[in-house]
Amino acid sequence: MKKVTIRDFIKKKSTKEKITMLTAYDYPTAKIISNTGLDSILVGDSLGMVVLGYANTLNVTMRDMISHIRAVARANPPQLIVADMPFLSYEIDTKSAVKNAGLLVKAGSDAIKLEGGEEMKDTVKAIVKAGIPVMGHIGLTPQRFLRLGGFRTIGKTKQEEDQLIKDSLELEDAGVFSLVIENTYVDIAKRITEKLNIPTICIGAGPYCDGQVLVINDLLGLSEFTPYFAKSYVNLKEIISNAINQYIIDVKNNKFPEKQHYKERES
Ligand code: KIV
Repeated sequence: MKKVTIRDFIKKKSTKEKITMLTAYDYPTAKIISNTGLDSILVGDSLGMVVLGYANTLNVTMRDMISHIRAVARANPPQLIVADMPFLSYEIDTKSAVKNAGLLVKAGSDAIKLEGGEEMKDTVKAIVKAGIPVMGHIGLTPQRFLRLGGFRTIGKTKQEEDQLIKDSLELEDAGVFSLVIENTYVDIAKRITEKLNIPTICIGAGPYCDGQVLVINDLLGLSEFTPYFAKSYVNLKEIISNAINQYIIDVKNNKFPEKQHYKERES
């Protein structure tokens, strides 16, 4: 498969080919993804929750992100690699936002993603001006769960709905190449998708977006908690657990190692 570029990614909006995106955080997973037809890998800051064991994403650092982006990039995947800007790496001022976005690109990502709506316009403009493609992220923005009052569906009130529409238009105007819409009502995501010229990527926002993204641990059945909007395609937790138990049984009963697993000296 040839490398998916930003232009290829954006073009899928007009050709109406659904965009597929999954998170990945390490080399072996990125190597497996490399041989699939997936369009894009997100090195998401969900890393903090599904890999590093934090209760939320606030503790994820630039150092964490850089280390995991490098691991994914070493697999040389043809997929477009998008990396999350971690909490407080882009909110303080536009100068540090551009510098941190640059560090993620130097680590191997092809684009960055940041959370927030119209208040992020200047930041998006500055990063795009530096030559770095930016993906927006609205709806449930997990880095703001404290202010939002938890991990909840956004858009219930008219005010929230109007704000989501405004945010999407302002972000497009600022130059984002695509927009993640997380955990909002299906009609709102549909309206936004119809209004924008850039592709929308849904998670927990229904089928009418231009693409879908999932946390790979949810898809593989590896998560401790899988949200209602995610689908597990396999139960790897059970498969791994069975394999470990079988190993324990084999060692205890002298069934491993077998002849092919060791060398005897020839006499
Ligand atoms: O960090 C992440 O995995 C994300 C997706 C849920 C969109 O931002």
